[in-house]
Amino acid sequence: MKSYRIALIPGDGIGPDVTQAAWQVLQAAAAVDGLELHGQAFPWSCAYYKETGAMMPPDGIETLRGFDAILLGAVGWPQEVPDSVSLHGLLLPIRKAFVQYANIRPHRLLPGVNGPLRKTDFDILCIRENTEGEYSGAGGRVHQGTENEVAVETAIFTARGVERILRFAFESARKRRGILASVTKSNAQKHSMVFWDEMTARVAAEFPDVDVRSYHVDAMAARMVMAPESLDVVVASNLFGDILTDLGAALQGGLGFAASANVDPTRRFPSMFEPVHGSAPDIAHLGIASPIAAIWSGAMMLDHLGETGAAARVMGAIEAVTARGIGTRPGQDKTETVTAAVLAAVRAR
Ligand code: IPM
Ligand code: MN
Repeated sequence: MKSYRIALIPGDGIGPDVTQAAWQVLQAAAAVDGLELHGQAFPWSCAYYKETGAMMPPDGIETLRGFDAILLGAVGWPQEVPDSVSLHGLLLPIRKAFVQYANIRPHRLLPGVNGPLRKTDFDILCIRENTEGEYSGAGGRVHQGTENEVAVETAIFTARGVERILRFAFESARKRRGILASVTKSNAQKHSMVFWDEMTARVAAEFPDVDVRSYHVDAMAARMVMAPESLDVVVASNLFGDILTDLGAALQGGLGFAASANVDPTRRFPSMFEPVHGSAPDIAHLGIASPIAAIWSGAMMLDHLGETGAAARVMGAIEAVTARGIGTRPGQDKTETVTAAVLAAVRAR
């Protein structure tokens, strides 16, 4: 029997609720498909920070290294710990330490879910650079607290970092409809973004079967709303990808439906799977968080582990449930009800 070790980091706010939901569904799928998923939960979170002064222990990264994958709920509880502290203490270090350079985010409407657009026939896969760019953390502040204060935040684009994400995006496009949109802002940012465009052209030479076009990020924002059906794979830098994927989440009916995978395509390190929504303090502890994004992220985890049958079973279950109108109304459906329906659908398939 194939067996996998999964690290569970439920985190903050609605994180624990949706992680538990996803874990139950994954266990059910594993049982049907004859897999073993061994979970080990870590309490790393803002509550942990309040207790210990750190978001995770000093050997946290070392501890995670031995797992086959990480399932994460959400990080952040800004009432108690500044986001800049909690995210730089847990989520972002994991993405960087494990070189999870591809953040993969699918945007399409699940059956029965209404998005805000009249157009519904879109199926976009956003691939966001996840380890450098605008999120590199390079910079500093001087003359703090004086009227001469200066803040510098330097975006870092390396040949290695840009090339590998582009290559990954071209390969993803090749497996889909063969259309790639590369997003920059090279009309205004004349160094890093021109570099990205040039690298896109260079890598494109190896993928003559992929139809690649470059767009500026502002134009892409408009295109995602006006002509989402014209897009297939979209690749962007860390910050642009972050913003465009919240837009993508909105198009697919809301953040409760937006799944993501932080992947190390080289498989040297564990990859991490998390819903895009975050800890949602406003609805924490109300029992109404949608578990769909977390469950979908779990399906992406199974897929990454090579368990494509189990992954398809979980996706099929989610779709069967939303097609019946269950879990399609954010803020109205109870987490428990939706989870129970998906569990039943997994077992019935
Ligand atoms: C996301 C989130 C994070 C990001 C934040 C919480 C740092 O918005 O996963 O999209 O920007 O990467
Ligand atoms: Mn985001």
